[in-house]
Amino acid sequence: MSIRLDYTNMLADAIGEPCGISPNELDALRKPAQAIHQDLMQRREQGLLPFYDLPFDRVVLESVKQLGDQLAGRCSHFVVLGIGGSALGTLALFRALRPLYHNLLPAVERDGRPRLLILDNVDPAGFGEALDLLTPDETIFCVISKSGSTVETSCQLMIARHWLETALGDRWRDHLVVITDPESGSLRELAEREQLTSCAIPSGVGGRFSVLTPVGLLPLAVAGVDIDALLAGAAEMEERATRSDLLENPAYLNAALQVLSYRKGQHISVLMPYSDRLRDIADWYRQLWAESLGKRTALDGSRVHVGPTPVKALGTTDQHSQVQLYMEGPFDKVVTFLAVEDYGRDLVFPAFPGAGHLDYLSGRSMTELIQAEQQATAAALTSNGRPNCTLTLDRVSPQNVGGLVYLFEVQTLFAGGLFGVDPLDQPGVEEGKKYTYGLMDRPGFEDMKQRFESIVGG
Ligand code: PA5
Repeated sequence: MSIRLDYTNMLADAIGEPCGISPNELDALRKPAQAIHQDLMQRREQGLLPFYDLPFDRVVLESVKQLGDQLAGRCSHFVVLGIGGSALGTLALFRALRPLYHNLLPAVERDGRPRLLILDNVDPAGFGEALDLLTPDETIFCVISKSGSTVETSCQLMIARHWLETALGDRWRDHLVVITDPESGSLRELAEREQLTSCAIPSGVGGRFSVLTPVGLLPLAVAGVDIDALLAGAAEMEERATRSDLLENPAYLNAALQVLSYRKGQHISVLMPYSDRLRDIADWYRQLWAESLGKRTALDGSRVHVGPTPVKALGTTDQHSQVQLYMEGPFDKVVTFLAVEDYGRDLVFPAFPGAGHLDYLSGRSMTELIQAEQQATAAALTSNGRPNCTLTLDRVSPQNVGGLVYLFEVQTLFAGGLFGVDPLDQPGVEEGKKYTYGLMDRPGFEDMKQRFESIVGG
């Protein structure tokens, strides 16, 4: 695994005032960092942070691989139904670690693996058009919900089950796999009652920290991702991301830089991969960062209304959409680039006779161009006093992506410590869910309907 963090362009030496971070400011965080580190390690030992140990669970890995192979042999389409943490990590890793056009390739070029669809919305047009593509006999739905009661996923499940049963009768059960809490929730009850194939999400692992559980591992294994290597990369990062010294630990260091930047007014945190494969990592990270750190109340009970706003951008595409704003707009952003050294293939620009203005490009390559554009954007931001840092992967491999996911998860936990909030809850999301239940007349939520009507004047 090779992931390097270069934060030179976050420092006052490079970007000056008002955004630059001084060595003293970083140094001042080393002591609070020690306290947060000890707290995290203690909670890990007590079994309260089981996500730390997911990369080492060989039993789950072997059983998921076996089930993945078996399911892959029984369908042409494997369809994930889920939302938020039950979908975004899988989407990101599928895009990163399978050919970009996996679903368009013929079976032989997909290594005989099924197509993978991840349906994470209840847009009737989107869901309906996906169903139109599918044949019941060749489809397996994988319904994923930690709580087992999320309304969007429940409704998708209702439609999928009916669609299967209408076509297959009692055989619908063979076409539905469940991933949920090991013991509680209505989805677990359903799986037991109907004797459906199921996997467990370890109890203490929350949705957005669950991509390295069967939530991500099973669909990825079905689609042909090397989940052994993915977990090996995460395991390797565990050693670096649990070092106690802030400056030795890339997860703590990046969290500290982000938090210091936030304190200087950079309330928007942009993640900008220069890689089509890594595009949706920024989407997954957006949820991880927003739901974990955007909080009204601090751990000590005070009102803080804190949290960076994560923004995803794609290089080079968004150089022609967003970068003008990053370069000259308000001093409220910190940019993290994801750079790649080896894209796995390259395209050389051939000569173009008669087009002299293109001569300077002839013989150069697309890798050279995309890397030059990333470095040029970083340099231009720096010269405009805009904080930016770069995480460089030598390749977009399962090891590196596993390491990156692990790094970002620990970074988020540690940033929660620095902000003084609980990164593992999401009371704001729960509030929105309750209004929806009220509007959809779920028994027990009548008061939410009344509150809604009082807000909209109904
Ligand atoms: O990170 C989280 O906890 C949330 O985003 C959940 O993943 C999301 O709300 C879906 O919940 P569930 O998996 O219970 O259906």
